[in-house]
Amino acid sequence: MRVLRFARAMPSPKITVPALRARKRGPKIAMVTAYDATMAKLLEAGGADVLLVGDSLGMVVQGQTNTLPVTLDEMCYHGRAVARAATRAHVMGDLPFMSYHASPEQAVNAAGKLLKEGGCESVKLEGGRDFAEHVRRIVSCGIPVMAHIGLTPQSVHAMGGFRVQGRSAEAAERLLEDARVLEAAGAFALLLEGIPAELGARITAAVDIPTVGIGAGPHCDGQVLVCYDFLGMYPDLRPRFVKRFAEVGETIVEATRAYVAEVQAGTFPTDAHSFGASAKAELTGNRPLVSGAPPGYGPASGE
Ligand code: KIV
Repeated sequence: MRVLRFARAMPSPKITVPALRARKRGPKIAMVTAYDATMAKLLEAGGADVLLVGDSLGMVVQGQTNTLPVTLDEMCYHGRAVARAATRAHVMGDLPFMSYHASPEQAVNAAGKLLKEGGCESVKLEGGRDFAEHVRRIVSCGIPVMAHIGLTPQSVHAMGGFRVQGRSAEAAERLLEDARVLEAAGAFALLLEGIPAELGARITAAVDIPTVGIGAGPHCDGQVLVCYDFLGMYPDLRPRFVKRFAEVGETIVEATRAYVAEVQAGTFPTDAHSFGASAKAELTGNRPLVSGAPPGYGPASGE
């Protein structure tokens, strides 16, 4: 009995790259974006396999209209926050626009920084066969790479907007070949974004590494969504491929309204939320609710 209780208390083992590769045979990989420690903890508690520190943070966190302004230092800052919180989920970081495009050497340096300073365990980069050598060189340094093809948001201007890719027969063949070349270059997984479902199925069947889709149909080996999208917190864009699993945005607005109303009415805070003059009052009335609460909320030392 005691052994069983101990086993239950053991943290689940970290999800590794070999474990993710093995998911080609199922179960499907459930990946979500995360940009800060609190959200990362919640998403991991919900069972997410991979936390992607996506450069989508440029849009949903920074309020930019696309991902292009995001810097490698900003990616490292958010990566560290997510990595501090993730005990089980794999932490992957996006290489941002122009941090890896210039040469394979630049790509190696940027990927290394994302691991050394950003706390990530693998990197993702956008691009097809033109980036095969970049992938090969990063992988040769022991850094796992997921390659992102199809709708690649960093090419928003070249694509003329966020548009579905691979619709013509030639474009589909090109993406299929890109997938094969990137697999041969050593990518451990592929992210397929914004392509027809049939093409998602064809690419998934054509490679031995797992595919993770977003707007790529139901036949991929996994799925990724931006956390603000599936939680219903980002009203600016609502692509067809997003399913809202909650309306957290509405909950936040309602909770804020209730807070504002109570502050204005003088019904919050009450004595229950206030510190007493004596240490006894603080110990009985205001103990930190969670162990490990930051210092400064309990009685002052020596009282
Ligand atoms: O940056 C990002 O959030 C992405 C998405 C495709 C998940 O790359």
